[in-house]
Amino acid sequence: MTTQIPIELLNDAFNVFRDASRKLEQQYSLLENRIEELNAELAEKNRAIERTRRLAAMGEMAARIAHEIRNPLGSMAIFATLLERELADEPDKAKLAEHINKGIKTLDNLLSNMLLFAGSPEAKLKPVELNDIVDDAILLAGDRGKAGVEIRASYRGRKRVMADPNLLRQLFLNLIINALDAVEEDGRIGISVDTETEEGGVVIKVSDNGRGIPREEIDRIFDPFFSTKERGTGLGLAIVSAVVDAHMGRLDVQSEPGKGTTFTLGIPAGREYLS
Ligand SMILES: Nc1ncnc2c1ncn2[C@@H]1O[C@H](COP(=O)(O)OP(=O)(O)O)[C@@H](O)[C@H]1O
Ligand SMILES: [Mg+2]
Repeated sequence: MTTQIPIELLNDAFNVFRDASRKLEQQYSLLENRIEELNAELAEKNRAIERTRRLAAMGEMAARIAHEIRNPLGSMAIFATLLERELADEPDKAKLAEHINKGIKTLDNLLSNMLLFAGSPEAKLKPVELNDIVDDAILLAGDRGKAGVEIRASYRGRKRVMADPNLLRQLFLNLIINALDAVEEDGRIGISVDTETEEGGVVIKVSDNGRGIPREEIDRIFDPFFSTKERGTGLGLAIVSAVVDAHMGRLDVQSEPGKGTTFTLGIPAGREYLS
């Protein structure tokens, strides 16, 4: 004897089955779409990784080239200086040698910033004479074509501190060059170094009475490659910030458009405290 399954029951079962398979189909196509999306994301990520790899390789190459350029540049600087002295009696010609020297200084500063940027700087502390460092930086900065600008340095307290002389020189150099770029022909730049601070550290201020920094730009000036200059690299202040970090210091800027700018840096005293 065969049992008869009521037709309604079969119908119901069939409907349930149809609904379930429709739902499965929908979920399957959703999953398919998601897989496509994930594949596209993966391909984009792979491209980004490849790009980053290439940039890193280019960075390494740039650093190597910068090193290679440095040596001949050093010789050129020496020869141009000798030439300048040799031509002391012929000012017109001496001026040409001076131009060569200025170009060399600009290139050298660019290379220093690039090299510091490529390998995050580490401070190797040793006793330094702050006034010597500042004098070097002023000399290296030159006048950037603004011979009338007055640069005045003042000191309070000890001049000898523990710091990394090369990093500190580059820091002052970048701040002075920026100040020179910001002022008019008869501008004023002040550098003050104070070691009579409560914490026993060094407080450095570099101020100018130049064009100032617009409010909407001030948050970006320390970003690498941010520059408002036609031929700027945007590396100067990124290096300043990295050097301050390497000394575990702090950095602050105050600026009033049309009036001037002051950069204030605090660098803690090294473990050894010098007088
Ligand atoms: N003393 C200053 N006065 C006015 N603007 C400044 C001063 N220092 C820096 N800036 C602004 O910050 C930007 C970034 O400076 P920096 O990192 O040294 O790069 P760069 O000098 O190559 O432009 C400059 O382009 C300029 O707009
Ligand atoms: Mg600069």
